[in-house]
Amino acid sequence: MGMIPTLEWTDAGVRFLDQTKLPLEEVYVTATTYEEVATVIRDMIVRGAPAIGVSAAMGMALGVDRSTATSVDALSPEVETMAGVLAGTRPTAVNLFWGIARIHDLYKKLVQETAGKPEAERLRIIKDAVVTEAEQVYTEDIATCRTMGRIGEHLLPRHGTVLTHCNAGALCAAGYGTALGVIRAAVEAGADIHVLADETRPYLQGARLTAWELLQDNIPTTVLCDNMSGALMRQGRIQAVIVGADRIAANGDVANKIGTYTVAVLAKEHGIPFFVAAPWSTIDMETATGDGIPIEQRNAREVTHSNGKQMTPDGCGIENPAFDVTPAKYVTAIITERGLLRAPFGESIAAMSSGQPQLMEQTA
Ligand code: MRU
Repeated sequence: MGMIPTLEWTDAGVRFLDQTKLPLEEVYVTATTYEEVATVIRDMIVRGAPAIGVSAAMGMALGVDRSTATSVDALSPEVETMAGVLAGTRPTAVNLFWGIARIHDLYKKLVQETAGKPEAERLRIIKDAVVTEAEQVYTEDIATCRTMGRIGEHLLPRHGTVLTHCNAGALCAAGYGTALGVIRAAVEAGADIHVLADETRPYLQGARLTAWELLQDNIPTTVLCDNMSGALMRQGRIQAVIVGADRIAANGDVANKIGTYTVAVLAKEHGIPFFVAAPWSTIDMETATGDGIPIEQRNAREVTHSNGKQMTPDGCGIENPAFDVTPAKYVTAIITERGLLRAPFGESIAAMSSGQPQLMEQTA
């Protein structure tokens, strides 16, 4: 389940499934330069925090591999430029910076380790190693999603309805997915789950992407307008909520797609568990609370227009924050590949960060 080719390294460049065209067209685009990878991320041809991280790592590797620099001294400033261009694409998903750093840190290490060798040999060693590292980031991402699935699946009902917001599936990662990976794992373990997908205005990741990819796996899915879940919760028609995350602060506050906070507050009011599934690379130990997470503001046209048609009168004000922050007090558990995190999140995250097993909940 869930092995949709969101992105992959090919001899021609980095190939992306164009998510702006789904669900009506399955079209692929190949980025042949790191600048094109940056455009693909900025224009949301690829999106979702883990996929953005893998794309950034591949963009860096592509830039290094395709560089015509004839010495490490000439390549090094180019690598700084690549990192800056890719870092300037989307500010909220911390995985972007993590993916850049994976290649950047390796590059710096290799520059030191190869010092003294002939320049052509140094460049060959560096290029081969960064490409291998980017492919490793890709492979690890799929394995991480599968592990989160195994760790989290027992939290979901064996028979019931699960609400999700945005797309935290195979399309937001190298494959399988984070929140939808946990749903997939539960279904693979025999659970009978009906997914409710918030449409997720304004970009419609839920209606376009979540519904598309779950139906590929024959997981029953119903799309809701974003203002419907409260009424369904009140009617007892939702047993759990599971979402992904773009950045999780050290205290457990969760930045995710705009509208997540509303769902979390409603879930708490109705006594419904609210789960977050995210790889450890989404946890930002440098950011103390959600107040420190930068929130991307996107183009007003995403709100004013739908399918190219203007929906709002000229001259009205428009808000378009792409993400919101859900305070940790609304989160029942955070599922990572390292284990489950429970409140108090500041303590459980710090313990997991330092590798202390005693505060980690073991998998069922
Ligand atoms: O703007 P997007 O589509 O990149 O936003 C994606 C989300 O908010 C996802 O829910 C988030 O990245 C989690 S995916 C693991």
